[in-house]
Amino acid sequence: MSSGGFKGLLFDFGVSSLKLENIVTRAEELFSNAENNHTLEQVKSKFLGKTGLITDQLKKLKAVPVKEKAKLGKDINEAKKRIEELLHARREEITDAELNEKILNSSIDVTLPGKGNNSIGSCHPITQTLDRISTLFNSMGFSIIDGPEIESDYYNFTALNQPENHPARSMHDTFYLLNHDFLLRTHTSPMQIRHMEEFKPPLRIVSPGRVYRVDSDATHSPMFHQLEGLWVDPSVSFANLKGLMREFLRVFFERDDIEVRFRPSYFPFTEPSAEIDMLFDNNWLEIGGCGMVHPKVLDNVGINTESYQAFAFGMGLDRLAMIRYKVEDLRLFFESDIRFLKQFT
Ligand code: FA5
Ligand code: MG
Repeated sequence: MSSGGFKGLLFDFGVSSLKLENIVTRAEELFSNAENNHTLEQVKSKFLGKTGLITDQLKKLKAVPVKEKAKLGKDINEAKKRIEELLHARREEITDAELNEKILNSSIDVTLPGKGNNSIGSCHPITQTLDRISTLFNSMGFSIIDGPEIESDYYNFTALNQPENHPARSMHDTFYLLNHDFLLRTHTSPMQIRHMEEFKPPLRIVSPGRVYRVDSDATHSPMFHQLEGLWVDPSVSFANLKGLMREFLRVFFERDDIEVRFRPSYFPFTEPSAEIDMLFDNNWLEIGGCGMVHPKVLDNVGINTESYQAFAFGMGLDRLAMIRYKVEDLRLFFESDIRFLKQFT
């Protein structure tokens, strides 16, 4: 670089402290002239942008002799800081002014109804039923537990005393996952196993939730709800099971004259077993299955059958809702027709 060039630079910086002041004043002027944020940002780039005045000054600093560098650098940075402060202040001013104007120009009538769908919505009748029944059993000393809807073949069948090729497996038309080791659980009974594996008796739980079967007619839906119950204790009996079921139904239907029957039946995981039927529209409708837990099942989870007995039940919650609300076709619950669902709010 020629000495002339160097002189020129020196000269530039000789007045630069003055220039800096001018730059700040100019920035202040232009900022306050900017009437909106868009213009303000454009003005900002003139000073602080890549090719802005301040950036320019910083670039030139490289060529300044060492003894002047520190002072000048400090001055430039101070000017930069000042400009940034001015910018922020103006930004806030503009934003405030815009907001005030908006408020002044818009008149809101808070008493007008909102636009669009302003209905609040409510719990689905099956959810209401599920919650109500869970709370009811909870008040009778049962803990409420939750479990997976995608279940392994082991928990859904094998651990419940239905080994592979057991004919009872065809009692449930099962949705298998591509990998046949997993399926959509066909009942809530796997929760018996999961709970007994994890906790030591005595035990008293209910487990409500969705279950799935390849089924569809007025009393069968491919997705439906069950509530599993399990009571493990040194001395629970089939008489206790019947008493509990009757008491539950009496409270659930809020009637003393419910007509229930226990029909002898078969489940691989209970012995003896029964289906529970209720009179609905002059016909017996099955609402659940129950029985004393089979010793093999207790063995599977390491519960000593000399010391403990257990009973279990599995209620069809959709069927209970159907009877309580006198709904003729259970599939109506799952068609999402607002006109139907509104009746239960
Ligand atoms: C069972 O699922 C056994 N796990 C019940 C059980 C538990 C027995 C514990 C013993 C001990 P079942 O297949 O019968 O049993 O079904 C129980 C209830 O679910 C039926 O009584 C019925 O109320 C309901 N249910 C069955 N299939 C459907 C369906 N497709 N749609 C609606 N409800 C159904
Ligand atoms: Mg049945």
